[in-house]
Amino acid sequence: MIPVAFFLSLACALQQVSAYSQFAFHAPTDRERSTFVNSPVDASNSGSEFYQLKWPIRNVAIIGAGVSGLLAYRELVEAGFDIRMFERDAIPGGVWHYTDETPVPAPIPNEDPKIADYEPSLPPQGVPLPFERWYADHNASISTAERWRRHRAPHGVWKSLTSNVPAPLMHFNGLPFPPETPWSMPQDMLVRYIRSAYSFFGINSNDENPRISYGTRVELVEKRFDENGMERGWRLTLKKFDRSGASSCKEVWWTEDFDAVVVATGNFNAPFMPSIPGLQEWSQRFPGSVLHAREYRRPEMFTNKSVLMVGAGTSATGISVDIHRFVKHKRNFLSFRRHANSTTPLDFLRTLPHDVQIVPGIEQFHASNGTIQFSDGTTLSDIDHIVFSTGYQYSFPFLPQYHNSSIPMNEEGPEDQPQPLVTDGSHYRSLYRDFIYIEEPTLGFMNMNLNTVTWTFGEYFAIALARVWSGTARLPSQKEMWRDYRKSVADKGGYGKGVLFFDSGEYIRFFCGWLNSAAFEFGGKTVDGRPGDYLHILRTFMKAFFANPNPPKIPSGNSSQAFVATGGGGGSGDSDLLHLFDHLLSTY
Ligand SMILES: Cc1cc2nc3c(=O)[nH]c(=O)nc-3n(C[C@H](O)[C@H](O)[C@H](O)COP(=O)(O)OP(=O)(O)OC[C@H]3O[C@@H](n4cnc5c(N)ncnc54)[C@H](O)[C@@H]3O)c2cc1C
Ligand SMILES: *[C@@H]1O[C@H](CO)[C@@H](O)[C@H](O)[C@H]1NC(C)=O
Ligand SMILES: *[C@@H]1O[C@H](CO)[C@@H](O)[C@H](O)[C@H]1NC(C)=O
Ligand SMILES: *[C@@H]1O[C@H](CO)[C@@H](O)[C@H](O)[C@H]1NC(C)=O
Ligand SMILES: *[C@@H]1O[C@H](CO)[C@@H](O)[C@H](O)[C@H]1NC(C)=O
Ligand SMILES: *[C@@H]1O[C@H](CO)[C@@H](O)[C@H](O)[C@H]1NC(C)=O
Ligand SMILES: *[C@@H]1O[C@H](CO)[C@@H](O)[C@H](O)[C@H]1NC(C)=O
Repeated sequence: MIPVAFFLSLACALQQVSAYSQFAFHAPTDRERSTFVNSPVDASNSGSEFYQLKWPIRNVAIIGAGVSGLLAYRELVEAGFDIRMFERDAIPGGVWHYTDETPVPAPIPNEDPKIADYEPSLPPQGVPLPFERWYADHNASISTAERWRRHRAPHGVWKSLTSNVPAPLMHFNGLPFPPETPWSMPQDMLVRYIRSAYSFFGINSNDENPRISYGTRVELVEKRFDENGMERGWRLTLKKFDRSGASSCKEVWWTEDFDAVVVATGNFNAPFMPSIPGLQEWSQRFPGSVLHAREYRRPEMFTNKSVLMVGAGTSATGISVDIHRFVKHKRNFLSFRRHANSTTPLDFLRTLPHDVQIVPGIEQFHASNGTIQFSDGTTLSDIDHIVFSTGYQYSFPFLPQYHNSSIPMNEEGPEDQPQPLVTDGSHYRSLYRDFIYIEEPTLGFMNMNLNTVTWTFGEYFAIALARVWSGTARLPSQKEMWRDYRKSVADKGGYGKGVLFFDSGEYIRFFCGWLNSAAFEFGGKTVDGRPGDYLHILRTFMKAFFANPNPPKIPSGNSSQAFVATGGGGGSGDSDLLHLFDHLLSTY
């Protein structure tokens, strides 16, 4: 049986195909031509249908030195902005910087999203800045090593991880991989690639480039006001960790001012743990038995253990495959929950070894007798480890003023306050086309939308920010941005259905159409849509990715099973393929 969603997405795909050859083109009117876009200098144009920046943009801060940070750096430097970049880790690479060191265990229950990644650490009130504090292991409550771990926050990749996006779609444009590079790349190859790109631009950690400060965490980003009380940009409170020896260090706090800020901090920082009755008691009764996927490193830790994996996305299935050889015979379980109307593909489960036992959603943990009860009434006991591959929350601890977890799922915040960026952490909000904060368009965001390939298409966000801030592309008025935004939320049936406002096709159409219109109007480079062989590459790669001659028994449900339905070939099934790919990108 083919679900209705299949036909809907097929219709989208057909629409999409025509969009590759024909982007939405908006010929400028004379009036538009005569107005210099967003320039605050032209404040007389206040009745304009376009947004006008409140101050000119010259210097820009970029937070985060991962893939997104470099994309932003490259475009903003090219556009002539003064850049400062801040990275809490010691090297660039973000998610792809693997270390055996793990992040701190995920709290149960979840922290409020405002502090779910970290709690900002500020200097004492009123002290002159910069302010320094020294620590030595002999007289401090936590060791230097632990202080550094908390500061830099190790990421959620594991030792054997290989990319699930083919190499031709997963590189910085203009910096392709050497020809013989495998399409599925080991994580260590990826971090080396990212580091070499940072070196190419002279901002790697050993370049000692004043444009980038490593070991530096952004603690706070606040509005700044001039002598007349007028808004005038942003003030960043920064904290740098300086190791002075194996057992001593200092922390330095200072502030820097900017006209605009790019948030490129990634989406996989704050763990999400589902709230399941009894879980908290279980984790207290059996310390160390409950993990979040971000703490997983190597399979040896599960040698001869019984393991219950929770989740059905790329991390859940990837880790389950990785540990299979090590866990106790027939004691590799995977539990997932899925509501009746879910369009989430079950294809990932097909990548598991056949003797992984797939069980339903967890109903309750009984710590008293060590039993786990599932939604169909069955139980399991003698489980040594439970790994929650249940994803992450949105969290921007350095922008506490734009978090409010008291706002219910599909409601807006109080009208007299700026609308928040984050409510319950399940989604982000208030961004026009997923990249600029509607309330204050000098706050830009990179790759918040998970539904796209960060590397290749993430470039659109960077170009869009560079153009808007240099006045070579224009934003609609705030009123119009809100209208557009609310329509897009409504079209998706509200926030509850997920965090993705665009599918990758819609999103590519929008940015190509808008940015190329702007290039026609104001000059500058044009951008490309998907390469002609995009679907071919994807089809070939995914066929191999999901190939498993002996998959486990998957409980009845509505799997899209793109490769079963289409036989993996032919021209049909591309909408299923794209839907599946979107999921692959968004279920870490
Ligand atoms: C397990 C896993 C597998 C993945 N597999 C793939 C794949 O195969 N293909 C693919 O395309 N994508 C994959 N991804 C997605 C991955 O997130 C992207 O490839 C990409 O690395 C995202 O880059 P980013 O720069 O947006 O974020 P990140 O890589 O997270 O970088 C953000 C940086 O910001 C820094 N930072 C955060 N907060 C602060 C602060 N307050 N102050 C200073 N610095 C800060 C962080 O230290 C980090 O270095 C995977 C993700 C995970 C978790
Ligand atoms: C700990 O010792 C170091 C020197 O070893 C000193 O600089 C620091 O002030 C001490 N800290 C406290 C809290 O006593
Ligand atoms: C795991 O269990 C098997 C079978 O009981 C045993 O032969 C093996 O030595 C065990 N391995 C370890 C590392 O304990
Ligand atoms: C599933 O869809 C039906 C019909 O559209 C709807 O009535 C029902 O509430 C949905 N169930 C869930 C759990 O969303
Ligand atoms: C475990 O304890 C729970 C709650 O006390 C109980 O409902 C359940 O039947 C027990 N299971 C076993 C196998 O003892
Ligand atoms: C957060 O949202 C709640 C519910 O809308 C509201 O009552 C409260 O004033 C908001 N808090 C802030 C700080 O905006
Ligand atoms: C599968 O989808 C159909 C409708 O598309 C629905 O009637 C049925 O209940 C679903 N089955 C499961 C197990 O979710």
